[in-house]
Amino acid sequence: MPGRRDDPIHSTHMATERLISPAQSPEEESANWALRPRSLDEYVGQHELVERILIAVEAVQARTKARQDGSREHLEHVLLHGPPGLGKTTIAHVIGAELGTRVHTTSGPALARGTDLVAVLTRLQPGDVLFIDEIHRLPVAVEEFIYPAMEDFRIDVCLDTGLNARTVQINCAPFTLIGATTRAGLLSSPLRSRFGITHHLRYYDTPELVRILARSCAMLGVTDAQPDALERIADRSRGTPRIANRLLRRVRDFADVRAGGRVSAAIVDEALRLEGVDELGLDNLDRAYLKTIAEIYRGGPVGLEAVAATMNEDAGTLEDVVEPYLLQIGFLARTRRGRTLTARACERLGISPPADPEQPQMF
Ligand SMILES: Nc1ncnc2c1ncn2[C@@H]1O[C@H](COP(=O)(O)OP(=O)(O)OP(=O)(O)O)[C@@H](O)[C@H]1O
Ligand SMILES: [Mg+2]
Repeated sequence: MPGRRDDPIHSTHMATERLISPAQSPEEESANWALRPRSLDEYVGQHELVERILIAVEAVQARTKARQDGSREHLEHVLLHGPPGLGKTTIAHVIGAELGTRVHTTSGPALARGTDLVAVLTRLQPGDVLFIDEIHRLPVAVEEFIYPAMEDFRIDVCLDTGLNARTVQINCAPFTLIGATTRAGLLSSPLRSRFGITHHLRYYDTPELVRILARSCAMLGVTDAQPDALERIADRSRGTPRIANRLLRRVRDFADVRAGGRVSAAIVDEALRLEGVDELGLDNLDRAYLKTIAEIYRGGPVGLEAVAATMNEDAGTLEDVVEPYLLQIGFLARTRRGRTLTARACERLGISPPADPEQPQMF
């Protein structure tokens, strides 16, 4: 459904077809499942997060052991936010594995009514993990049910209406809620404040991505990959493991067909040129975006809606899948008056930089 502001990533046409889109298709999800780290040892990067989880898990396990009655302690609720493809779903499953508990998975939009949540919560065993993806899309009515569940492990269910109305309390097992969102800003503050551990996942650097790629090579049966070739793939992955794995699969196909399975730097260059991904990891959509601002709007400042209209693209898509990386590499600046290309971007595009957007214009 293009144009829907609240679901820009999983719904738009062009974005899901992009090779370097951080969003993933269902086929890719199954391909990625095999590549997912299963324990904290295998989870590359995000050191602060891993450290915090290690300490929390160890503390829970020690307390569970110390309990006389054999019951289980639960881990505090965890909120993970950050751009798509950085490993939020992965770490949620890893936490479950480290705790030795089951992980129940659902998502904000899937919990349309309070009763959906009741059904999920009453299935939980003590200490289980409940993973709610896209938690920013949880309906307000369901959010109210979730507060007492998170705090006191009980759900207040309203039976009947009018004169006969009464509330019954249903208890659920102590559990750990892990919420994931790409849009932490859309979360209400009462919900956000109920998480004990809140963590923002950051982009991965090249050495981290190389480690992820080396592991994926072993699992995909790529035996003849040069280190500098993996580095080159990493450099074009926009700091995102999901994109790194996707590029690796494209390169593997190319190498199998054209080079007898040998993955060298030259093969990476050729394979990714064919896919329209340049040295910075920019693809056709990024280039079209930059070109629109450069040529139609003289480098900006220009409002996002205007750029989206000119490109015939959805503004939410541009904001979520194109702009974050351009901001990250210093190609784009967001000013009060709109988007502006930086000197660096202008240099690369071979155009003259726009006038300083923050300076008042003389005329
Ligand atoms: N730290 C990591 N180490 C190794 N591989 C990783 C790591 N993080 C992510 N990956 C790989 O990247 C893929 C995408 O990660 P994941 O699905 O967890 O991202 P996500 O943050 O949940 O994205 P979305 O917001 O789209 O749901 C995984 O299948 C996994 O193969
Ligand atoms: Mg996910």
